[in-house]
Amino acid sequence: MKLNKHTLLVIALLLSLFSTAQVRSVVDFNNGWKFLLGNDSLASNANYNDAKWRSLNLPHDWSIESNFSSSFPATNQGGALPGGIGWYRKTFTVPASSADKKIRIEFDGVYKNSEVWINGHYLGKRPYGYVNFSYDLTPYLNYGKPNVLAVKVDNSLQPDSRWYSGSGIYRDVKLVTTSKVAIAEAGVFITTPVINQSKATVSIQYTVTNTGKQNEIVNLYTDVYDAAGKKVATSKNIVKRTIPVGGYSYASQLQINAPILWSIAKPYLYKAVTRIERNGQLIDEVKTTFGIRSFRFDAANGFFLNNQPLKIQGVCMHHDLGALGAAYNHAAAKRQLTILKEMGVNAIRFSHNPPAAAILDLCDEMGFLVQVEAFDMWKKKKNKFDYNLYFDEWHARDIQAMVLRDRNHPSVFMWSIGNEIREQFDSTGTTIAKRLVDLVKAIDTTRPVTCALTENFPEKNFIWKSGALDVLGFNYKLYDYADLPKRFPGQSFVATETASALASRGSYDMPSDSNRLWPPDGKTPTVKGNADMSVSAYDHVYAYWGSSHEAALLAVNKYKFMSGMFVWSGFDFIGEPVPYAWPARSSYYGIVDLAGLPKDVYYLYQSEWTTKPVLHLFPHWNWNKGDTVDVWAYYNNADEVELFLNGKSLGSKSKTTDVLHVMWRVPYQPGIIKAVSKKNGKIILTKEIRTAGAPAKILLTADKSKLKANGKDLSFITVKLVDKDGNLVPDADQLLQISVTGAGLLAGTDNGFPADSSSFKNPRRKTWKGMALAIVQSHVKKGNITVLVKADGLKQAMFTLRTED
Ligand code: GAL
Repeated sequence: MKLNKHTLLVIALLLSLFSTAQVRSVVDFNNGWKFLLGNDSLASNANYNDAKWRSLNLPHDWSIESNFSSSFPATNQGGALPGGIGWYRKTFTVPASSADKKIRIEFDGVYKNSEVWINGHYLGKRPYGYVNFSYDLTPYLNYGKPNVLAVKVDNSLQPDSRWYSGSGIYRDVKLVTTSKVAIAEAGVFITTPVINQSKATVSIQYTVTNTGKQNEIVNLYTDVYDAAGKKVATSKNIVKRTIPVGGYSYASQLQINAPILWSIAKPYLYKAVTRIERNGQLIDEVKTTFGIRSFRFDAANGFFLNNQPLKIQGVCMHHDLGALGAAYNHAAAKRQLTILKEMGVNAIRFSHNPPAAAILDLCDEMGFLVQVEAFDMWKKKKNKFDYNLYFDEWHARDIQAMVLRDRNHPSVFMWSIGNEIREQFDSTGTTIAKRLVDLVKAIDTTRPVTCALTENFPEKNFIWKSGALDVLGFNYKLYDYADLPKRFPGQSFVATETASALASRGSYDMPSDSNRLWPPDGKTPTVKGNADMSVSAYDHVYAYWGSSHEAALLAVNKYKFMSGMFVWSGFDFIGEPVPYAWPARSSYYGIVDLAGLPKDVYYLYQSEWTTKPVLHLFPHWNWNKGDTVDVWAYYNNADEVELFLNGKSLGSKSKTTDVLHVMWRVPYQPGIIKAVSKKNGKIILTKEIRTAGAPAKILLTADKSKLKANGKDLSFITVKLVDKDGNLVPDADQLLQISVTGAGLLAGTDNGFPADSSSFKNPRRKTWKGMALAIVQSHVKKGNITVLVKADGLKQAMFTLRTED
């Protein structure tokens, strides 16, 4: 028989399906769940009737679906959204052919106090809501018949985290099927102990399990592929292994010639494929992405990546994705990271808990260094119902789960055992710090361990006294930087938190050159803040323990020994609405607001942290006659900026070594305010802002107009109210009515204002300073999505998105 090309292709596809069916399968287990908000203790039973429950797909966060209210126990720090109890159930079938396999369920994070049953059999609980865990389902499964997984989530004890946690199965779930002899969960660990121009040594540790009844003789080896998919190294010539019943650990090494290094600018990734063969037949296969890079902290000279000095230009990030809450979404995480990358950020501190696994893949691909942090508290509480309740029983399992999950990521360069831990003030800190560092190092010795400290007098800091920290992380207290090397001789340093400066996008209070400490330090007169709960966005408002962004940048740059910093915070996050309380429900700390719209200070960092030409002029130009307005500009690649009001020069100004912006005090006249940056008299950039007239149009722009038809992809649509000439109207906020029809849905709305108490799910959203955001999510069925935005007195605006396979 003669086979045509098409038939051959189908056969090849079938064969490949057949051969993968023989080996490991990792199935996305996020779809097709049932959900009950509330408690029903019978719901763990296999034969419970959940027909009336709501159907949904994971990741899911039920708290974000609620209205904000001052009555929720989470108000103080959790974002005025409820906790509570919820149940999830999923019915699924496992083929009869899997009866000789090992099957486990992997949860990347459930907030919190989850308990899991399979077919009515209790598998266990996991109190910590930020950590990954798994259960072996094998002994309790029905093969070829339905199975029921039931998960109870209890986030009813509040207050808990000092920020918004979200509630539910808010990260990915996977079902993993392997043969009885297989690589264990997180059972491949790749390091690159020797790197030079001509060669890199790749060292691989394997943990193999054998749950069969007899020892097995297998071939265990790894092939390494470069980013183009070309095989560049193999350990195939390695001898056969005997895998005893129970399992065993092995190690092998291979060499990569002329390695391409992973870096911030070029995050080059290799793929290792580890295989187990028995009698020439493939029985397991695990793919591990890794990068080849070296780094070190030097006590005198700071941080080096691949032997080049690199100042850490980092931000701290909490895990929520703004209006989408805690439910992990790849498109939303990627948008956050893209905005930060554009700003010049090269490092992220995921504070103060392990992040979603998938965001670390993005950091590997996009070129960010990452500090992964385990805890915000140990035994001593910060809030009544926080992790202090579980620390004793669970800390070892939790911190080791974190290290095991994340240790192959080239982006991950530090572990942090905690943030501003209370035990630093007494001797219990010494013992616990040592223990936690030992637990980390039992698994990974290739990354330094730090802790974010506040106490910088050595005799008073019991975590530092443990001698266990490789790098000392200090939060705030810029004025003490100069003395650190004297106080802690021979130590390396990083500023784990800086700034805690506050702003709401587009708000400006005069005069801009007087600093406001909100909350105050007790020494200066108490200021209550603004009646409308705004905070001025000139860089002159900050919590008394913090500083302006500019002061922090100057201090970190001044000292070579300071490896760099992590600004508090990259984005606004839900919860911790300092300096206000209800109806404020999210933070003012972000360089970028909760809707992902940059505040002015974004361009300060961009001008200092990138080499692309920046000229950012603010504020808006809609003031009252007789006002005196402070006009600021952030710029780079130029030696002066000249300001013009209605064509008349107001003079040129330059940054100095101590001041990273330029400012003019301008008697207001409506018209055009214009800045021109120049280098050696040559114009580099020009920016102008015009006095806007009445709102005349609704302008829609999308971060992307083609979405994947996968039920998850997102487009972020920025809504602007503009006048007839297209100028943003900064002072005429209006209620919008947003609707989405066709092949998608409205996943959330926001305007970035931290004291807007309308639900993130509300299609009616007021603009803040002329802007708002609509988040549109694709369906699985492809087609067009129509977004309509209406406002009283204005012509409705329409935007069409396309979804495709
Ligand atoms: C720090 C703390 C952060 C956040 C910040 C606000 O002390 O580590 O979690 O609360 O203050 O200024």
